Amino acid sequence: MAELIDDLRVGDEVELEIGAVAHGGHCVARHEGRVVFVRLALPGERGIVRITEARPGSFCRGELVHVLQADPQRVSAPCRHYRPGGCGGCDFQHATGERQRELKAAVVAEQLRRLAGLDRPVTVEALPGDGFGWRSRVRWAASPSVLDRSGPGIGPRAARSHQVVGVDGDQPCLIAAPGMSEVAAGLTPPPSAHRGRRPGAQPDRRRDGGRSRRPEDPEVTLCAPGLDGSDAAEVVTVWSGQSGPVVTETVGDRDFQVAADGFWQVHPAAAVALTRAVTEAVADVLPAGGLAWDLYGGVGLLTEVLCRAVGPSGEVVLVESDSRATALAEQNLARHPQAEVVTGRVEHALDTLPGPPHAVVLDPPRSGAGREICRSLAALGPEVIVYVACDPAALGRDTATLAEAGYELTALRAFDAFPQTQHVECVATYRPARGSATASS
Ligand SMILES: C[S@@+](CC[C@H](N)C(=O)[O-])C[C@H]1O[C@@H](n2cnc3c(N)ncnc32)[C@H](O)[C@@H]1O
Repeated sequence: MAELIDDLRVGDEVELEIGAVAHGGHCVARHEGRVVFVRLALPGERGIVRITEARPGSFCRGELVHVLQADPQRVSAPCRHYRPGGCGGCDFQHATGERQRELKAAVVAEQLRRLAGLDRPVTVEALPGDGFGWRSRVRWAASPSVLDRSGPGIGPRAARSHQVVGVDGDQPCLIAAPGMSEVAAGLTPPPSAHRGRRPGAQPDRRRDGGRSRRPEDPEVTLCAPGLDGSDAAEVVTVWSGQSGPVVTETVGDRDFQVAADGFWQVHPAAAVALTRAVTEAVADVLPAGGLAWDLYGGVGLLTEVLCRAVGPSGEVVLVESDSRATALAEQNLARHPQAEVVTGRVEHALDTLPGPPHAVVLDPPRSGAGREICRSLAALGPEVIVYVACDPAALGRDTATLAEAGYELTALRAFDAFPQTQHVECVATYRPARGSATASS
């Protein structure tokens, strides 16, 4: 094997041909055999890449700072914070919406191929809207300079950095709901939100990918309930350490009570798209009077779908670890006596639930459900497993486990629920593979 030449240093600028898009919002390029993950680039482009991270014997990271040969669907990013060294909240603002969806489709297809051995075409569907002003919830940080207004105030973090990108009415975050940046610019963190910042402590300038938060920075959730694009939204703020108010979100003809700082789909059209996709996925397989589970159920958005499918003679069990969410789910599902709400972690609750279920819907956090849970679900032999996934790598891993356990991926829909970013929401449907023995067969 050729030896890697570790001659790249942070700050170096090199001319590179940009290769395929990869999971994580960057493209892959090579410099004398060494892999460089390049932000702000598009596959097939050529340009000058500035190296931002270089570890001996490993891959590097960089940002495209000068384009020599552009993709035809490259556009000039409208946000002033979207630039080399700038905000890390968006990844694909330099491409048309159509090209962004192609990139996301390529990532989902690649993760399914690499992790689950599946070769299938993927289409990412656009949601209504122009791709800006859609984020009904953000969690932003307050920089140490916010108190004396000596530097950037409150906003998202810079790419792969703890640094805060201060936003305001003149330089707003363009994906956040209208009005959020103006509200953020006027905020001052309450003393209770300072989680142990030492007086006089200097900002930590490590670039560790933002995986660990600088713990002393106060964070604030801004929530624009009922965002639908027609009006400037009312913005509710909740600082870290505080408990937020309950707000109302509407999906079709149903209202849901949600904690302002609790989980809810952030794109105003996502809840409708997901509930329709789940309805479609269980339509022919979940009988009236049947039993269904909604795992990682939040405040009951998808339990409601399952209650409608099984009707009053059926039963639907929601499992969710956040007790504030389950208290609200009880209220949201009060009109469905067939709904049972369980507060607990899925991994602890599975053995205690009524079963076996005809259908299981699961919507785990980014890390996915994992091997144990996928294997346990498959062993119960449901007619259908519907997996709502916000991370394509977790989807790929869990699809592989389900396949080993006898469940094949029969349908996949993907939605552009996070325009301008690398993120994508998938709804995957699995049925018992033909010829496999499941508990219900
Ligand atoms: C992606 S959200 C889905 C919520 C809901 N399905 C919806 O569409 O609104 C994931 C939910 O799983 C919950 N959660 C995370 N880990 C969990 C676990 N181990 N067991 C149960 N719930 C968990 C979180 O609190 C969160 O509400």
